[in-house]
Amino acid sequence: MHVLHVSAECYPAAKTGGLGDVVGALPKYLNDAGVDASVIIPKYSLKWFAEQEWEILFTGQVRMHIWGVPYQVQRLVNGDLGFQLYVVHIPGKFDRAGVYSDQNGYFGDSFERWICFQQAVLQWILLTQLPITHIHCHDHHTGLIPFMMRYCSIYQDLQGMPSFLTIHNGGYQGRYSWSNNYLLPYYDPYAAGMLDWENSINMLGSAIKCCWAFNTVSPSYLEEMKTSSLGLEGLLNLEWMKGSGIVNGIDTEVWDPRTDPMIGVHLKDDDFLSYKRGNKAILCERFGLDPGLPILTFIGRMVHQKGVDVLSDAIWSIVQHTKQIQFVILGSGEAIYEDPYKSLAHHHGDQVKTIIQYNEALSHQLYAGSDFLLMPSREEPCGLNQLYSMRYGTIPMVRRTGGLQDTVIDVDDWQGTGICFDQLTTGDLIHSFYRAMRLYQHKSRLYSIMQEAMTRDHSWERVAQDYIAWYKYYMGIE
Ligand code: ADP
Ligand code: GLC
Repeated sequence: MHVLHVSAECYPAAKTGGLGDVVGALPKYLNDAGVDASVIIPKYSLKWFAEQEWEILFTGQVRMHIWGVPYQVQRLVNGDLGFQLYVVHIPGKFDRAGVYSDQNGYFGDSFERWICFQQAVLQWILLTQLPITHIHCHDHHTGLIPFMMRYCSIYQDLQGMPSFLTIHNGGYQGRYSWSNNYLLPYYDPYAAGMLDWENSINMLGSAIKCCWAFNTVSPSYLEEMKTSSLGLEGLLNLEWMKGSGIVNGIDTEVWDPRTDPMIGVHLKDDDFLSYKRGNKAILCERFGLDPGLPILTFIGRMVHQKGVDVLSDAIWSIVQHTKQIQFVILGSGEAIYEDPYKSLAHHHGDQVKTIIQYNEALSHQLYAGSDFLLMPSREEPCGLNQLYSMRYGTIPMVRRTGGLQDTVIDVDDWQGTGICFDQLTTGDLIHSFYRAMRLYQHKSRLYSIMQEAMTRDHSWERVAQDYIAWYKYYMGIE
């Protein structure tokens, strides 16, 4: 088997969230398990790309309406990612300083960009006759690939190749007006329905219809999508036979408290206390926090999905009632969600530290040095932060939804390692803050829960086997 992963993100090249982490890790562990796996993403004008050495493998041109769009497929020459990384260089479309947006906002030509990228990938596969046995698409950006393989005459030689889809986030579907139809390559007109969902071209919907099999990144999220997925519920129920739920793994080589070059104090000889206290001391020194009080941290995209609006309200409320709690907020996103945190830091700067940034190194230091990690998500298809925090001995505080529900057990239940709550309300959040403060008073229990959390096995070694079994099942391989 040789699987080609097609994605918008791949760590360390391009990452805005968990999609990048997954695509940067799963192929490595598939290779280790004996399945050849490589990755193809667009080539962005980001720092990492400029620092690497690239070999041009292929030069071609795809058609978009009356225009020819030239592209190059390049291969990473240096670097040791554990898999072969290919990039598609499409001048004018992806050579920008951001994946989906830059400092001026979201890119307005996303349909054209993803159509060109997906076509370039298919054309390259066809013309270079790569020994690929199947294609694995990630999220809506690559969602028209299964359709094009089946219904576009220029790609019909790929008709028999199995295509798989992983849905990382059904909240983003790639919905476009039918007025964009002219930009698509010629397809069998009878197949127009395979592009359509609710009178729009829906890239995610089309992928669900046309792929051989799809999965979500946790079983609970798959069930949730059947009843609530921004209009795709009916489709999910129709196509249920093709759907599975596989919880993400984490890259335990990158995320290792024993060796992580981004953290100040490593875990040595299982001396948990020196590790935890050492990293907390560094954080406190840097941000002027009190090491004697609990630190509750949020790391993530500042968007509606993450429940950050309710979280800021709950923090406003608790800091007015007690000084015995501290918060660190690291994130960036939409201004309406960022602003309350700036204001909190302004008015309660001794208790709330706000860092509006994307900062990979700081995120590692926060997983290592905080006491609790907040995830009050409205939806969470899987969530990786709670897995990283447990690996670094930090107790996750999660709303029971999607993958959070599948990976975190409440401390009051058997072998629990987290604080769980059901409703996204300030009431539930404030109650959880008090639970955290109470737990923090009982240091022997606190430390034993933190250490228990570190033993949880969410490694890709195990999950890669689930993916291999999934591929084989739908490809009819014993
Ligand atoms: P999502 O993919 O929905 O954003 P996940 O929990 O799956 O959520 O993954 C988020 C990933 O992005 C984690 O690796 C997290 O550490 C990282 N991340 C999110 N926001 C930031 C930030 N502001 N700075 C550094 N890392 C961040
Ligand atoms: C998405 C989801 C997140 C998941 C990640 C990786 O961005 O929001 O829950 O962990 O993809 O699969």
